[in-house]
Amino acid sequence: MPAVSVFGAQWGDEGKGKIIDRLAAEADVVVRYQGGANAGHTVVVAGQKYVLHLIPSGILHLGKVNVIGNGVAVDPLKFLEEVEGLRTRGVQVDGSNLRLSSSAHVIFEHHRRIDQAAERWRGEGRIGTTGRGIGPCYADKAARTGLRVCDLLEPEHARLRLRAALAEKNALISQVHGEAPLDLEQQLARYTTLAGQLAPFVGDTAFQVREAYSQGRRVLFEGAQGAMLDIDHGTYPFVTSSNTGVDGIPAGAGFPARWIERAIGIAKAYCTRVGEGPFPSEQHGPLGERIREAGNEYGATTGRPRRCGWLDAPQMRYTLGWNGATSWIMTNLDVLTGFDSIPVGIGYKLHGKRFAEYPASLSGIEDLEVEYTSFPGWTEDITAVRQYDRLPRRCREYVESVEKLIGVPIEMLSVGPERDQVISRAGVHHGTPVGAR
Ligand code: GDP
Ligand code: IMO
Ligand code: MG
Repeated sequence: MPAVSVFGAQWGDEGKGKIIDRLAAEADVVVRYQGGANAGHTVVVAGQKYVLHLIPSGILHLGKVNVIGNGVAVDPLKFLEEVEGLRTRGVQVDGSNLRLSSSAHVIFEHHRRIDQAAERWRGEGRIGTTGRGIGPCYADKAARTGLRVCDLLEPEHARLRLRAALAEKNALISQVHGEAPLDLEQQLARYTTLAGQLAPFVGDTAFQVREAYSQGRRVLFEGAQGAMLDIDHGTYPFVTSSNTGVDGIPAGAGFPARWIERAIGIAKAYCTRVGEGPFPSEQHGPLGERIREAGNEYGATTGRPRRCGWLDAPQMRYTLGWNGATSWIMTNLDVLTGFDSIPVGIGYKLHGKRFAEYPASLSGIEDLEVEYTSFPGWTEDITAVRQYDRLPRRCREYVESVEKLIGVPIEMLSVGPERDQVISRAGVHHGTPVGAR
């Protein structure tokens, strides 16, 4: 495993944390390259549940280096809270196994305030953001008015840049959103104190990751969110503000694209989405409700109930395709136990017109009707199965039919939240990128 990308192939919450934790056993370095504490990656080890927001999901293994790359939007408060939370539970976290890029952009209180106020302002048109300040922070990065971790570490520099930023943000907060402005001195005092606590973790992570790779270390890139939430290729404007797939790695980690040998998409055996925006195969009513209860589908970051529906093959071909996935991993297969019949989306219809492939930039995407095919379900509990040929026949038929529909090999199945609840599909070829279309 020299350099491997693991990314969400749906709308987030595909089980990336669980899989990264599992794959981290065979890696040396685990790198987050985009997003921020909008992510909630759940890892369950020996009955203990950990939800990681900013810290990479390799942190529970001893001796691995976990890196927060320059492309991550870092909220120092959340970062330090998470470090402390893990330490309290006996997990070793220090500057030797957790590194933070000096070029990562910082999320300030004004970013969180503006994120939440902007959502209220949008009313019916809201995105349903996590309210973590992600969009406003990346907006400032693009507008070149943001502060990076290295800026925060130099008090005089931080003062100049934060003063300039707050002059503009306070006008927005008070004049547009009608809220009390933030006090520069208070904010400076707070964030420079936090900067002091960040300092032991900070370094040139892009250089460090390239060095590690050049010395033969195995690097695992941990995507956050999902490819359908990608700012360029997702269901814009109902997306997050970063490049969530393999596309985010070169920019967000300073790692050459051509060094990435494998790209593994993660997707549930069905599909979920949290927040607003199109989700063609969503099931409203009792079926959606039943999936939600069976899969305990409530957000790991905000606790919101997730919208639930069926696996959508063209949507999967779309995300695995533009990321050049060499294979994918199907999670939550156990959740489908007990369904008589399991529909899978195979195409769309809009105003009488048929689409076999996902129409990336269609403005009427929310009106798409999905055409389904159905597979017979199984009733056996599969959570203790560890060998593929021990799965019920109908379960294997589901997996293999879906694999054929999507056209990219499934290299592993996940049958429960615990680290060891996986089934490796030995013999699955994943060496060369599979053109999904
Ligand atoms: P992430 O954001 O992609 O890391 O996913 P989340 O952690 O937000 O959501 C995935 C949820 O499914 C978590 O509660 C996991 O513990 C759980 N989970 C992961 N894999 C499986 C699985 O194979 N079966 C079941 N039943 N739950 C799983
Ligand atoms: P993980 O890494 C699922 C969604 C939000 C909202 C949209 C924009 O756990 O899979 P943002 O706060 O990023 O500006 O919100 O994106 N969203 C996620 N949905 N999983 C996530 O992360 C998400 N991170 C953001 O619900 O619809
Ligand atoms: Mg999540």
